[in-house]
Amino acid sequence: MCGIVGYIGPRQAAGLLIEGLRRMEYRGYDSSGIAVVNGTGLKIMKSAGKLSALEQQLDGGMPSGTLGIGHTRWATHGAPTTPNAHPHTDQSGHIAVIHNGIIENAGAIRKMLQQRGHTFRSETDTEVLAHLIGELYRGSLEEAVAAALREVDGAYGLAIISEDEPGVLVAARKGSPLLVGVGEDEWFVASDASPLLEHTRSVVYLDDGEMAVLSRDGYRIRTLETAQIEKPVNQIEWDLTTIERGGYAHFMLKEICEQPESLQNTLRGHLLEEEGTSRVSGLNLSDDDLKGIERIVITACGTSWHSALIGEYMLEEMARIPVEVEYASEFRYRNPVIDERTLVIGISQSGETADTLAAIREAKLRGARTVGLVNVVGSTIAREVDGGLYLHAGPEVGVASTKAFTSQVAALALVTLRIARLRDLSILQGREFIHALQALPGQIQEILNRSADVERIAERFTDTTNALYLGRGVNFPAALEGALKMKEISYIHAEGYPAAEMKHGPIALIDENMPVVFIAPHDAVHQKIVSNIEEVKARGGRIIALVNDGDAEIERLADATFTIPTTLDLLSPILTIIPLQLFSYYVAVRRGCNVDQPRNLAKSVTVE
Ligand code: M6R
Repeated sequence: MCGIVGYIGPRQAAGLLIEGLRRMEYRGYDSSGIAVVNGTGLKIMKSAGKLSALEQQLDGGMPSGTLGIGHTRWATHGAPTTPNAHPHTDQSGHIAVIHNGIIENAGAIRKMLQQRGHTFRSETDTEVLAHLIGELYRGSLEEAVAAALREVDGAYGLAIISEDEPGVLVAARKGSPLLVGVGEDEWFVASDASPLLEHTRSVVYLDDGEMAVLSRDGYRIRTLETAQIEKPVNQIEWDLTTIERGGYAHFMLKEICEQPESLQNTLRGHLLEEEGTSRVSGLNLSDDDLKGIERIVITACGTSWHSALIGEYMLEEMARIPVEVEYASEFRYRNPVIDERTLVIGISQSGETADTLAAIREAKLRGARTVGLVNVVGSTIAREVDGGLYLHAGPEVGVASTKAFTSQVAALALVTLRIARLRDLSILQGREFIHALQALPGQIQEILNRSADVERIAERFTDTTNALYLGRGVNFPAALEGALKMKEISYIHAEGYPAAEMKHGPIALIDENMPVVFIAPHDAVHQKIVSNIEEVKARGGRIIALVNDGDAEIERLADATFTIPTTLDLLSPILTIIPLQLFSYYVAVRRGCNVDQPRNLAKSVTVE
C-alpha cells in the first residue's frame, strides 16, 4: 500500500526522502514522487513505475531544500500514471499533498470546486483534497488543513507542505497509520517505522482525528478542533539491521530462515512448564473471564485467516469451545451474532489491515471482548483491542507472509493452552503440549538445513502452470497457505483443498501436467490421505508429498517426498508450512519473479 515520508530539519530533504521511500518499497506501489520546499519555491518530481524511474529523473540533480514530502502510490482512484502519482498540488501550485487512503466525497467536492473555477490535472481524490486546502487557505496551512478535513469523508494519512510556509509540515490521520519521528533538531512523518529507523527510534503514534504540526523548533499534536494535546513518545525496539537483508538474496528467504528464532521469541516468557499452562496476561482477561467465554470468533485476512483456521482446530479440540473463523471483510458487513460472552480474536501481522480493524471495531460495538494477535508494535489494531499478544516475530518485509504465520499459530497455541487448562486439559497433557512447542524451533532449523532438497524438487516443477495443495484436518489450512504462497509470488495458479473434497470436483483436473502437493504427516487421518494419494496416482497426477520419516507407503506412490520431523498433530502445520514456503520461493526465483514485491500486492492492505 501507499507509503508516506516527510522531513523537516537542517539536512537536505530530497535524498532522505528517496532513502525513506526505498525502505517502504516492500509495501507495494506503482508510482512515486517527492516535493521539496526551498527559498525559491516548491519543486515536485514524480514518476510512474518503480522508484528507480524517479531516481533517473533526479540524476540531473536533487532539488535543494530542507523541508519535503515523499510518497509511493498503490493505485486506487485512477491508473498508476505519472499525473496520478503524488504529490498533488492545489490550484495555485503552492501547496503539495501526499495521501494514503480514500476521500469518499471527492466527487462532490471536485464538482463544487470546478464551479468555482478549479481545474484538475489528475483523476485522484488526493488532488481534490489539495485544491480544497488551497481554497480554504487564509495564511495558515495548519488551519486550512483542519478546515478541509472537517469537510471530507473517508480515510487518510496525509503530509502537506506549502512554499508560502517553508518552516511547516502538517500531517493528519484518520484510518491510515502515521507516525511522527522525533530526532535531534529534526522531525519526520512516516506511514510506518521503517524509513525512520536510520534516524531515530523515538516516535509518536497518531490516532484517528489527530494532526501533527512540525516546525523547525519542534512538533505539536492537535485534533481538528483542539490546538494542542499531549501524546507519549514511544521507543521502537527494532533497529536498522533487523529490517535489512543481511546477506540473503531476498527478504522472503531471510524471513523463512528466521523462523527458529522468531518462533522462540513468540513463545518466550509465556510457557509455564511446571503448571502445564501458559501465561497470557496481555489478553487482559482473568481466569474467570476466560472460563465465562461461550464462543470464540476469529477474524483476519489472507495468511492470518489461514492461521485462524488452525486456531479453530486447536481451540475446539483442546479447549472444547465453539469457534468460528470469519474473513474480516465479510464479518463487517454481516449481522454477526456476538455478545459479551463472545471473545473476538483479530489476527494481523501489520496491525493495520483495514478490514480486520473494521471487524474488530464492529465486534466492540456489539459488546464482545476483543483481543489481537499482532506483530507490529504500536499498530492501530494493537492499540484498539481490549488486550492481546504481540507476536515478536520481528519486522516482516517480504510481501508474502512467512514468519508471521508460524508465530500466529504459536500465539494461538498459547491462548488455547491457557483456556484448555482452565477447562478439561490435564496438567500432563498441558506439559506434553509445552514440550512439543519448545521443540519446534529446533525442528524448523532441521528442515531449513535441508532446504537444498526442496530446491531440487522445485527445479522439477518450475514450468508448471497449475498446482493443487491437499491436506486434511489441521493441515487443510496449511494446504491453503501453501497454495497462497505459490500463487502470490510465482503467479502459478494454485488451489488448496481438503484432500477428501478432491473427488467432489477438482479430481477432474488431474492429469500428468497437474502437480498435487499432499501434506501427509503420520497423524490421525494418515490412512485417509494415502487413499487420496492413490486416487491421484491412478489418474496420472504428479505427486509431491510431505511425510514423516519412514513413510514407505507414500514414498512408493509419490514422485517427490520431503520428510518433516514428528510433532503433535495440532502443531504440525508449523512444520509442514516451512518446506511449502521454501518450495514457492525457489519456484518463483527460478521463474524470475520479483519475490519480495509481487505484482499488484501490498504488504499492508489499508484500504477496503
Ligand atoms: O497484516 P495482515 O496479517 O492483517 O495481512 C493480511 C493479509 O493481507 C496478508 O496475510 C496477505 O494475504 C499476505 N500477502 C499473505 O502472504
